[in-house]
Order: sequence, then C-alpha cells, then structure tokens
Amino acid sequence: MNNNTDHPLVQLTGVTKQFGHTVAVHPLELTIGAGDFLAILGPSGCGKTTLLNLIAGFMLPDSGSIEIDGLDVTRRGPERRPTNMVFQGYGLFPHMNVRQNVAYGLRLRKMPRAEIDQRVKEIIELVDLKGFEDRNVNQLSGGQMQRVALSRALIMRPKVLLLDEPLAALDLKLRKSMQEELRRIHQSIGGTFVFVTHDQEEAMSLANRIAIMQEGQLIQEGTAREIYDRPKTRFVSTFIGEANLFSGYRKDDEVVLDVGLRFSNAGPDGQVDNVVRPESITISHSSEYIQNDLMVLRGQIDDIIFLGPYINCRITAAKRMVTVLVSSSSLPEGMASGSDVFLTWKSEDNTVIDGK
Ligand SMILES: Nc1ncnc2c1ncn2[C@@H]1O[C@H](COP(=O)(O)OP(=O)(O)OP(=O)(O)O)[C@@H](O)[C@H]1O
Ligand SMILES: [Mg+2]
Repeated sequence: MNNNTDHPLVQLTGVTKQFGHTVAVHPLELTIGAGDFLAILGPSGCGKTTLLNLIAGFMLPDSGSIEIDGLDVTRRGPERRPTNMVFQGYGLFPHMNVRQNVAYGLRLRKMPRAEIDQRVKEIIELVDLKGFEDRNVNQLSGGQMQRVALSRALIMRPKVLLLDEPLAALDLKLRKSMQEELRRIHQSIGGTFVFVTHDQEEAMSLANRIAIMQEGQLIQEGTAREIYDRPKTRFVSTFIGEANLFSGYRKDDEVVLDVGLRFSNAGPDGQVDNVVRPESITISHSSEYIQNDLMVLRGQIDDIIFLGPYINCRITAAKRMVTVLVSSSSLPEGMASGSDVFLTWKSEDNTVIDGK
C-alpha cells in the first residue's frame, strides 16, 4: 500500500517530550498516511515508546500538536482518540478467558451483546484463534497470547493501531510466523499500523515505511529502499543493512577518500563519509578486466564466511576492513584466506554523506 500523504491520518508537528532533564523526544515532525504500515526503528532508549504513548494519548506532549483524522487531539486522553495500543508483555486480564479478554473494550462501551458476540467471532477468525475462546489466557502459548492482545486492540476498530515491540518475546520461528500474520491482517483490514521494533529485518519485511530514531530525534523516514540506497547519516547507513564507510573530504565537487580514491561529486567543500554497500563490490584475482571508471582497491582476504546463498568476505584493503557480499555461485575459483584480490565498484554505488 502506498503512503497517502495527501490525506495524512496522523500529523505530529513540533512535538516534544521531556522527563526531568532527559529529552525523550526533540521537536519532531511525522506524517502517517492512511493505510500505512510504519515501522519505528531505533536503539534502546531513543524514544520509540514515548512517541507511541504521545500518539495514543497516554502521555501529553510538552509542546507541539497532534492531529488524527483531521482533528486536533493534542490534549485528549487515550479514550477520546481513534487509536489503540498493543503493549509489550500483552497486558491481558489473567482471570478472564480469551473471549472475555477480547470483548472487554466493547463491554465497557456498552455495546449490545449480540453485536459484541458477532465482532468477537470475526476477530477470533481473523487472528486464527478459533477453538480457544473459552480457554483461560494463562493456558496459552506466547504466540497465542500475542494474538489475544492483538484481537483486543483490533476489535475496537481503531483508525491507528500502535504496536510496541509486540513480537519481542517470541522465539525466532514464532516471530516469523507472527510477522506473516500481521502482514496478512494489515492487508485484510486495510488499517493503519505503527509498529515499534529494534529489529531492522523485521522493519524491512513488514512495513511499507520506516522511521529511524536516534536520541529522541527522527533522523530519516522513507521506504526501506530509499533508506538503504540513500542513508542520510552514518548512523542510518549502519543501522539499516551493513555498510563500508570510507571517510574523506570534498573540494571543488571532487571527493577524495582517505584510502586514496577520488571521484566527482557535487556538493559543499568539507569532510564527508562515503557509504559502499557490501553487495556493490566485486572481487577479482587480476586487474585485467578493470575499466577506467571503476573504483579500485587492492586487498587481501582475511576471512570467508559461507552463509548458504551468500558468502561474506572480510578483506583488508588500504589498512582497513572491507566487507563484501557475493552470491555463493559467483565467488571466483581459488579464493581463500590470504588471497590477493582487487575490489571494484561503480562510482554510482558511492553514497556521499556530508559532515561528521
Ligand atoms: N516515565 C519516564 N520517566 C523518566 N524518564 C523516562 C520515562 N519514560 C522514558 N524515559 C526516558 O526517556 C528516554 C526514551 O525512553 P523510551 O521508553 O521512549 O525509549 P525506547 O526507544 O522505547 O527504548 P526501548 O527500545 O528500550 O524500549 C529514555 O532515556 C528513558 O529513560
Ligand atoms: Mg520502548
């Protein structure tokens, strides 16, 4: 689904939040389109949970405004916003069964019994929990509890569903299958999901947009492809995917790297970093086929790590470590630790980041 920024569903403008001396969220702008599946990604303590709490209304911002569906909800509590949150740890009512947990929010709203029953039935089917309705939630597996938590939020039909690391407690296999499930549910109900995770792979596989946070700031927002291909900062380049970073400077629209390479690149004079993704680099034994316009470094293989479909090569070149990822079928014959090699890449595979 595409980002629908013509009709932003959620709009945060200049939102800040401070706890004592800790600035959890610096002035932040964020637009979430209707139908988006947005992943908020960043290291521990960068402000992800605070941001969700601000959108949901569990915390009020110190300044700035929050609009949801065209309404200013900045000063409204959570019950007066069209949002619902799934907390880490699930927060289920332990003395209730699955059906009672799922129906709870609608009961509070005093919805007629028959209507509640109908909605519970639909949601239980959607999350694949049929047959577990009368089971006490203490007698469920982690993945099943997770689904109950999800149902409890979904049954309220929120315009925006906020999920705070909902899969963090699950083992890898269950996590993968819940990822599939979440994607399927998002597609089938067509809602707007905001999903917090530490895990870049999870963010890339689930979301259509990713927002990267660092120390209370939103550093970059875009599709996974945009962020991977054109990271705005060093931090982003190493947070999404692996990156080889070469430092250097730019003068008169030419970049000169410390490893001795130069290429033309328009921009202001000053220090730069150049990002080269591991899969953009080719390894060869000889310089025979190397063309003029390629970046070339000589190096020596330190280590070759077989990863099934890929091989990860660690190479020392110009006194630094370079990581190269090649498909297992394309590593030239006879490559081993200690081999002398040439590393090449196209200048279009350079991504120059200004400043330090
Ligand atoms: N209620 C609070 N009182 C004081 N400081 C808080 C409070 N909640 C969060 N903080 C601080 O605000 C910053 C952001 O916290 P937040 O919980 O939003 O981080 P996070 O990105 O969700 O981290 P994690 O990935 O570990 O869950 C942290 O420095 C945290 O210590
Ligand atoms: Mg958190």
